[in-house]
Amino acid sequence: MALASPSESRHGMWSSRWLFILAAAGSAVGIGNIWKFPYVAGENGGGAFVIIYLVCVAIVGIPIMVSEVMLGREGRHSPINTMRSLVERGKRNPMWVLIGWMGVLAGFLILSYYAVIAGWAMNYVVLTAAGTFENISAQNAGMTFNDFLASPWQLMGWQTLFMALTIWIVGKGVSQGLENAIRWFMPLLFILLLVLLGYSVNSGGFQQGFDFMFKVDAGAFTDPQIWLIAMGQSFFTLSLGMGAMMAYGAYVPEDAGVGGTVVTIATLDTLVAVSAGLAIFPIVFANGLDAAQGPGLMFVTIPLAFGQFPLGAVFGTLFFVLVTFAALTSAISLTEPVLAYLVEEYNAKRKRVAISVGVLCWILGLGTVFSFNIWADFSVVGGLTVFDFIDYVSQNIMLPLGGLLIALFAVWQLPKTVLQKQLGFESGVKLGLWRLVAGVIAPLCVLAVFLNILWPVVQGFLQ
Ligand code: TRP
Repeated sequence: MALASPSESRHGMWSSRWLFILAAAGSAVGIGNIWKFPYVAGENGGGAFVIIYLVCVAIVGIPIMVSEVMLGREGRHSPINTMRSLVERGKRNPMWVLIGWMGVLAGFLILSYYAVIAGWAMNYVVLTAAGTFENISAQNAGMTFNDFLASPWQLMGWQTLFMALTIWIVGKGVSQGLENAIRWFMPLLFILLLVLLGYSVNSGGFQQGFDFMFKVDAGAFTDPQIWLIAMGQSFFTLSLGMGAMMAYGAYVPEDAGVGGTVVTIATLDTLVAVSAGLAIFPIVFANGLDAAQGPGLMFVTIPLAFGQFPLGAVFGTLFFVLVTFAALTSAISLTEPVLAYLVEEYNAKRKRVAISVGVLCWILGLGTVFSFNIWADFSVVGGLTVFDFIDYVSQNIMLPLGGLLIALFAVWQLPKTVLQKQLGFESGVKLGLWRLVAGVIAPLCVLAVFLNILWPVVQGFLQ
């Protein structure tokens, strides 16, 4: 196809800057905030992990997100074709287009397990509504979850339902339906998190939970794995490094500012994650649970809390419905880069493409389903199950690598005039500062974390 640079995308445009904020926030806020952040923080000892994560969001995530959105808006195509068009126009090395391809692959890997976990949340809608958790003990909450995990059929059923919903929505096109969903559900989800937080404050474990999250044990900073995982989490939670924000950026009108929008989205996203952590950890400590228990953390603690509530079944059901919606708006963004590409490249119908991609992703997702039961003892490498492996590689390697390349390309490969136009910077000082932050500091941070991990490997070779 011919790659011109139209001022509008053929896939449609957001009707306003506001809709972009909603869509991008809908992408960012997902089960990564409510399910993943607390459990990964728990597994990695809290404190140091949380601090590294917060710092990464601020100095790595925000500049890279601006770069990503900016590239999309300049290219106005799917990430792969956006990169092609920018490379052609600027006569840059075609290797840069790999950013687009790697993103498609990362999105695919992530969605494969994302659908499985979102399926858990859907199952919990039904369980909570049925009153399963009323006055339940911590032990029984744990047992309910483990029984569920032990059944591949149940996991598969919910995974299938979530995937079907995602395909159905994305088949219709991005902006339709998304707007209302996000406008109503996001604020509601946040309110319910605050209600949970209120419960946690009075649960008797608040101080301990708070300390776990924010008290820093200096020794923990020496573990390079914690740095890598915390940085990966900051990319994951902001939907960065795989082109989702680039794809959404392609639909942003010419006149909307990007910087302030990105800061708003990152702040919202962080607030949701931190509130989820502050709601969950006190429940852990008040009930003598294990903070490092892994992916089941939210599915054991939150039902336990709602089980004590007046009208807990109602609130709890609503909570899991909202989590499901948050997951849907994120899953949609995971499919957008590949769908937009296939539509552009083959002039294919969105619906058809959505179904094909969905089916493939569903099949790969079976690896995650089985990781929690029949393949629980099977390790791909170093004790990692299929789920652990897919999660580790996509989140901790592919996303930061993608983000690093995106920032380098946006800052050093785009013509200066384009950069000035996109950022709206008149003065050279602002542009210089921007280049320092997004083009030097953020990439160096990513590199440093990577090298820190690789160093022992290199040393091993040298010896
Ligand atoms: N950010 C989402 C979450 O926290 C997940 C997600 C959506 C994502 N789109 C993405 C992660 C793109 C990485 C890349 O749940």
